[in-house]
Amino acid sequence: MLEVKNLSKAFGGIRVTRDVSFKVEPGERRVILGPNGAGKTTLFNLLVGALKPSGGDILLDNESIVGLSVSQRARRGLSRSYQKNNLFEDLTVRENLALAAASAQGKFAWMSRDSFRDKSVLETVEEVAEHVALADHLDMQVRSASYGSRRQLEVGLALATKPRVLLMDEPTSGVGPSMIDGFHRLLQGLPKELTVLIIEHDMDLAFDVADRITVLNFGEVVFEGTSGETRGNPIVREIYLGEGLEDA
Ligand SMILES: Nc1ncnc2c1ncn2[C@@H]1O[C@H](COP(=O)(O)OP(=O)(O)OP(=O)(O)O)[C@@H](O)[C@H]1O
Ligand SMILES: [Mg+2]
Repeated sequence: MLEVKNLSKAFGGIRVTRDVSFKVEPGERRVILGPNGAGKTTLFNLLVGALKPSGGDILLDNESIVGLSVSQRARRGLSRSYQKNNLFEDLTVRENLALAAASAQGKFAWMSRDSFRDKSVLETVEEVAEHVALADHLDMQVRSASYGSRRQLEVGLALATKPRVLLMDEPTSGVGPSMIDGFHRLLQGLPKELTVLIIEHDMDLAFDVADRITVLNFGEVVFEGTSGETRGNPIVREIYLGEGLEDA
């Protein structure tokens, strides 16, 4: 489905992504772990096309996509949600989702607001709202939505583009324990055929949802394995010593 081959990225002289290789199967839940500054977000930026690699290749369905723009990759089914909020504050939850769905369907009509009346756009909005547990908040203005709801909406915006591969950058960052449970259910409720890559700091959540885990440190893949293998791995334990792995 998605294959990364010897991917590298340097900013100035600093190599932030070093020879990263891994392969993700269709429908897989892949968690990317690593301490702050390990290069996780940079990896996602390279995958979606927001950054150009210094070297290496990215294959989607066995075809190289490194030459494609962000929107071309999105049309091939690659979509991401952000580590930080990226929402239209003055619009409602419904309108935010509708704009994402409409632009993905090539029906973006900003001035006329026609996108809010399009049948297939509205169907997508309803479906996505169910998945991200916002069906009861569709008419709420984003400005007055809780932090947790905004994080759910972030995932919703990515889902509204009907991706085949969804990249989530710390969907639970900054949310409390009860919201983490909510995200847990959200992740489990996503379509089984959807391939998901998640950067996640919450270990319990990471170990529970992951089919496989890739661990980055200083831009390099230092380990890949199942949750059980990752939990017991000495390299991983050393990297996370004092970061809660003992409790996971
Ligand atoms: N545009 C840039 N120019 C220069 N350096 C950058 C740039 N973007 C990221 N970096 C550096 O690359 C390294 C990796 O950053 P990245 O944001 O990918 O880490 P991360 O694993 O996502 O960290 P966090 O867990 O804090 O989100 C950091 O040292 C960062 O300062
Ligand atoms: Mg990051």
